[in-house]
Amino acid sequence: MSAMLDVTHDRVRQDGEAGFAPRAPRPRARTAGPLTQLFLLARNPIELWTQAHFDEPVVVERGVTGGRFLTVSDPQAIRRIFVDNAANYEKDALQLRVLRAGSPAGAGEGLLVARGELWRRTRRTLAPLFAPRRVATFARAMLAPAEARAERWFARGAHAVAIDSEMTALTYDILSATLFSDALAGDANGFARELAALLESIGRVHPFDALAAPDWAPRIGQGRARAARVWFNDAIDRLVAERRATIAAGAAAPPDILTALLQAADPETGAGLSAPEIAANLFTLIAAGHETTARALGWTLHLLARAPLWQDAAASEARGLGADPATWLDEAPVIRACLEEAMRLFPPVPFMSRASQGPDRLAGVEIGKGVLVCVAPWVLHRHRLLWDRPETFDPARFLPGARERIDRFAYLPFGAGPRICIGMGFAMQEGVIALAALLRRARFAPIGEEPDIVHRITLRPRRTLRLAVAAR
Ligand code: HEM
Repeated sequence: MSAMLDVTHDRVRQDGEAGFAPRAPRPRARTAGPLTQLFLLARNPIELWTQAHFDEPVVVERGVTGGRFLTVSDPQAIRRIFVDNAANYEKDALQLRVLRAGSPAGAGEGLLVARGELWRRTRRTLAPLFAPRRVATFARAMLAPAEARAERWFARGAHAVAIDSEMTALTYDILSATLFSDALAGDANGFARELAALLESIGRVHPFDALAAPDWAPRIGQGRARAARVWFNDAIDRLVAERRATIAAGAAAPPDILTALLQAADPETGAGLSAPEIAANLFTLIAAGHETTARALGWTLHLLARAPLWQDAAASEARGLGADPATWLDEAPVIRACLEEAMRLFPPVPFMSRASQGPDRLAGVEIGKGVLVCVAPWVLHRHRLLWDRPETFDPARFLPGARERIDRFAYLPFGAGPRICIGMGFAMQEGVIALAALLRRARFAPIGEEPDIVHRITLRPRRTLRLAVAAR
């Protein structure tokens, strides 16, 4: 890092110490009653957290059905859940029900919801698709859509942009290029519309689900999710059929994730994925990779708009980057730190849960089989015992030299252990490249009040998040 940048860091650090703490729901004084719990589970679960969650390493409560559940924010205990005793903690039924909502009977199970041997086989088969060397080959396909988007803002003389929908469109463009080489280009609008409808309906925890009502009980609002799933299944079937025909005809297939999925083989058995498994995993990669990355980018720009010295430091770093975007992740410590700090304060996945399969002891609490164990990045990343000035935006925590002091199990935007996000390297590379491309060209400034935050599987602004943009 150059001496000049070091000076910038010092100045920026002082600015950070002045203390910009973005708006967030105030923790409740005590646990909500059962009706409020049901209401907020559907409306906005992050409003359920109490002050004790942010102060205590572990909080034991009873859920609406009377079952015991633990919220764990002790790094050692989290390590036990995700790594040391991971076999004892399976994804729980409520989470799987929410993630599978609208999925037709007989659909294959994608990596995100698969369990047991199916999960192990799928993970082994997909892992090479996300190996660092392969992800690096996508760098240019990540850069071009980000550059084009900023150019479009200025070409149409925009002074303000809806940053959340712009980032949703940008991550769609990037996924479309890297997953299936824009083969659905004509359907881009339909794609964005159906995905938004699906996330809107599956992202809500239906009260019947929270109460563990049987499958036949009708869940109002799930009809739209089902219609969106049907739309996706048709689009994906068409994509797969066309690509299979290209490969069968001996023509050169594009070097994207779809081709890799069709040719993927389990390194242990040599077996490929079945047709329903290919469709389910293509859908999973789109759904899991789209909204999460869009929210990470949107929140980072929201925070940088309100921390101008950090924004300037990131923009000057962006301007100094070399010609090959595949190296930017390693060459842009300031941009990377801004992205990581944004995912600390606004983790795109704010909540993870598991069900214990047998007895264990977590942070001094004895648990039996069937206990719901929650690890909530929203809570963990703002925990009083783990972070200095937890509410303050200060990317300096993630600069080289300081980053190494953060406990691995105190910061979990991508989860940990065997079920860690398979797209982590892809998302970090995409995030840094997209931010660099945007910050090089545009200066962002806030408009109006800070947004309210809503938790719907991912963490989003409740209303459109608008930022002023000006050419740099
Ligand atoms: C900033 C962006 C992203 C964030 C914050 C994020 C976060 C996460 C988290 C927290 C998990 C673990 C959930 C748990 O253990 O309960 C996860 C799993 C997963 N993610 Fe991501 N993700 C991001 C981007 C992506 C991308 C770009 C892809 C693919 C293109 C992807 C695909 C997946 C898949 C398939 C899983 C399931 C892995 C398994 O269970 O083996 N994610 N992600």
